[in-house]
Formats: sequence, C-alpha cells, structure tokens
Amino acid sequence: MGNRQGSMDNWMSIDFGTSSSAVAIIRNETPELAPPLDSDAVDSKLFSSVAYVDKHENIWTCRQAELMGRQDPSRFLREFKLDIRDGRVLFDSEVTYVQLVAEILKTMKEAAERFLNDSIENLVLTVPATYYDDDEKTIVMKQAAGECGAGFKRIEILKEAQAAAVYYDYLEGQSGGRTLVYDLGGGTFDAVIVEHLETEYRLVGHHAGLEVGGKFFTEKILLDYLVKAGIGRRQATNDHRQRCEEIKRQLSYRETLPPITGESYTLTRSEFEHLISSDLDKTLESCGTLLRQTELQWSDLNRVLLIGGSCRIPLVRQKIEGRLHGMNAENTHIVWQCTENKKTIDPQSAVALGAAVYAMRKFIIPPPEPVTIGVLRNSFTGELYALKEGENVFGRSTNDADFAFPKDERMSRRHFSIEVTFNGSTYEYRLTDLRSSHGTIVDNMALSHQYTFAPTSAVLKGGEKISAGTTKFDFTI
Ligand SMILES: Nc1ncnc2c1ncn2[C@@H]1O[C@H](COP(=O)(O)OP(=O)(O)OP(=O)(O)O)[C@@H](O)[C@H]1O
Ligand SMILES: [Mg+2]
Repeated sequence: MGNRQGSMDNWMSIDFGTSSSAVAIIRNETPELAPPLDSDAVDSKLFSSVAYVDKHENIWTCRQAELMGRQDPSRFLREFKLDIRDGRVLFDSEVTYVQLVAEILKTMKEAAERFLNDSIENLVLTVPATYYDDDEKTIVMKQAAGECGAGFKRIEILKEAQAAAVYYDYLEGQSGGRTLVYDLGGGTFDAVIVEHLETEYRLVGHHAGLEVGGKFFTEKILLDYLVKAGIGRRQATNDHRQRCEEIKRQLSYRETLPPITGESYTLTRSEFEHLISSDLDKTLESCGTLLRQTELQWSDLNRVLLIGGSCRIPLVRQKIEGRLHGMNAENTHIVWQCTENKKTIDPQSAVALGAAVYAMRKFIIPPPEPVTIGVLRNSFTGELYALKEGENVFGRSTNDADFAFPKDERMSRRHFSIEVTFNGSTYEYRLTDLRSSHGTIVDNMALSHQYTFAPTSAVLKGGEKISAGTTKFDFTI
C-alpha cells in the first residue's frame, strides 16, 4: 500500500540530535512521528543517537548499541554530534563519521519506511544554526545521508530553528511575527530569531553553539554524587551516569526524590537548580547578545519558543519569565509544550515534525501563488509594492531600506504588516504592528470609514487603531 504519491515522491525528516533523534513522515498530508522499530513503549518515539563499533568494524546503532555498550563501554559512542568531522571515530578503527552517521540514518530510514509501509527516497535533514552550507559538518551529514550512505536520493538541509518555527505556525495557523527559538538540548544551547514572512521563515540571526545542555547538567549531578559517595571520577560507570540522568528527569516533575532502598544519595530540586543556575544564566546572556546584534529588544519578539528536552526543567521557564518581566516584555509569550490555541508542541519532536511540514508544503502540496490584490505606494519615495493575499510585511526588518517611514518611536521600529485574506466576497485587511494586532478592517468601506480614504487610494494616518505614528502611504485597489 502506498501513499497518495508514488514512493519516489515520499519525503521524511530527521532531526539528528546530540542525545536523541526524531523522525517524521507525511501521511494523508499530516506529519507523524515514526518510532524506532524496536520501540515497545507508546511514548518512546525518539531514537537514541548512539553507536557501538565492534572489533570487526561492524557498526551497531541506537538501542542495540546501548545493549552492546553495557558490555564494552570502550567502543560505545554517545553524544558525538559535537565531534563530527571528516575523519575516524575511534583511534583503532577505520570507521569514519560518515559511515557512523550513515548507519544511524539508515536505521531511521528503515523505521520510517516500515511505518509508512512504502519506500522513501527524499529527506529533509535538520542541522543547527551554526552549520553552514559548505562546512565540514554539513558535508559529512550530507554524505552520510546520500546514495553512498543511507541511500537518500534528494536531501534538503533545513535549520533546526526554522523547522521549529514552521511547526509552531502549522499548529497555530500562520501566526506571523518574530520568534526567538530557545533550544536547550543535550549538548548545546542555540538562540535563533526567525521571522515569519508569508510562506518564508527568515533567519534574522543566531547566537548558537554554546556548550550548555542536558549532558552537562547530568554531569554536574554525577560529580556531586561521586564526591558524596567517595567514588573517584575514573570509577564512574555508565550505570552511575544513568542513575543521575534519571534523578535529573525526576526533578523536573517533583521537588524531592522518592526514597529508594539501598540508595543513600539524594538531591532536591533546589539543590539541582543551584548546580545549573549559572549555566542557565549563560543561555540568557546568549539571547541578550543575539538581541543586541540584531538591534532588537525582548519586547520586539512575538514569542519565545522553548524546544529541546532540557527545557523541561522548570527553572528554565522561570528564568525566561523573569527576564521578560525585567525587560517590560509582557506581550512576548513563552510557548512551552502548548501553543496559544492549545495544540501540543513537544520540545523533542517539534523540529522533526516541522521539517516534515516544510517538505509537505514545498514538495508535496505547494501553496497557491498569492494573488496580487492591490498596490501600495510609499508616499515618501514613490515606490510601489504589490499587496498580496497572505502577509505583507513592511519596515526595517525585511530590509533596512525597504520602506522609509519617518522615525517615530510610537511606530514600534517602523515595522508593521498587512495580512490580506479573501473571505469569498470581500478582502479583509488585518493591520499588525510588532507588538499586537490592532483590529480587523473588513472591506474597503470600513477602511474608508476609519481612515481618510478616497475611492482608489487611502492615506493611513497614525491613530489609536494602528500606532503607526506619521506613517503615510497610498493604497490602490
Ligand atoms: N524531564 C526532563 N528533565 C530534564 N531534562 C530532560 C528531561 N527529558 C529530557 N531531558 C534532557 O534533554 C536532553 C535531550 O534533549 P534533546 O533531545 O532536545 O537534545 P538533542 O537534540 O539530542 O541535543 P542537541 O539539540 O544539543 O543536539 C537530554 O540531555 C535529556 O537529559
Ligand atoms: Mg536538538
């Protein structure tokens, strides 16, 4: 049984993470997570990003690797995404990173094909904002995915943050605006600002690759444990680490740990928070640097989208809330596990699902070409802009020189958008500045009622409806 398309048209997506990876397919024009083949629990839809290289150079992946790694930790590889390069993975083996990643991608491809019940040749592979088109890591990832590796014929690379923003928009229904994607995963922290423009998700900037994340938080508990138990660092085993990982996860849901027979070590949530607090402060500093670099304020953001498994730690949200409050950015929403219209957005699968939505929109059901319904003329420069169905954004964020409004602080950063929708008989224009929506103007008559309006052109003045200062333009339908 196949999809609506032929198997050659099938797409899947992979978010290859430091500690875990997620895979999505598209069925009936809907993205779905494909679980590992050996997953027996309903909630374990993630793949463990680990491998084991045996003495005969065979590569074992994911769950099988975990089992083998217990017997021989010296040939077990975990959290190696940070080390990916053009070279070998172990000093005494010929296995390269390309081969290693290829095997992991193959495992995921197989699981996705089994889940879809069809073969899949095309892949959207997400990468961190720090990867560039031609850098070593991107090349290794592409080779691993390609025909000599996992066997994909077509590979599209997409930034993780863009994929997350796409998924948020997909759930929320074209929300628009600016999103700060706060991604606190296993190995790194990435802060990325994405701007939603019509069907495009533009990367405004990033401050990424900070080595703060879940593996370091677990490491801190492990150190505390070893010191208190009088065990030397070198004697630390995978079992110790596993126990500390479990303690960390439990503390996201409870203040104290339940007593365990035979276990004298314990840690409270507040003690754990004390261990990681300065690391979390670094993530906020990273966001602050990004905002300064992009000349934005916290209040210029429409939302902070929290992704990555480590965002499950309550202190992460508390710190961001505190920062938004301190910066008078109460209108900037924190999106955590659920969108404004109450759809679930899981922090560890949003990237893979968003990448699948991206593939669906771009390659499977491309959106209709927006219809031009009017012309907007900049009264100051005389330049003309086509006003289309969908979102039309004007102001410095598209391009500093784009639309030269006189500087007026009330017009927040000289930036607003007009969203045009056609409801069957009339066009609806929704004017939105950076912070908030200022009502919907239905049909041209209402437009003329609220603003100085001539039959073929409108002069929009500032006013309480749009805080556009002295913004002025001609609008021709
Ligand atoms: N309940 C929880 N409480 C605290 N941390 C958690 C919880 N669940 C998962 N994590 C942590 O989330 C991290 C994995 O998150 P995620 O899958 O987003 O990272 P990744 O994508 O593998 O890493 P990266 O994005 O850095 O490449 C792990 O370090 C894990 O310990
Ligand atoms: Mg990740």
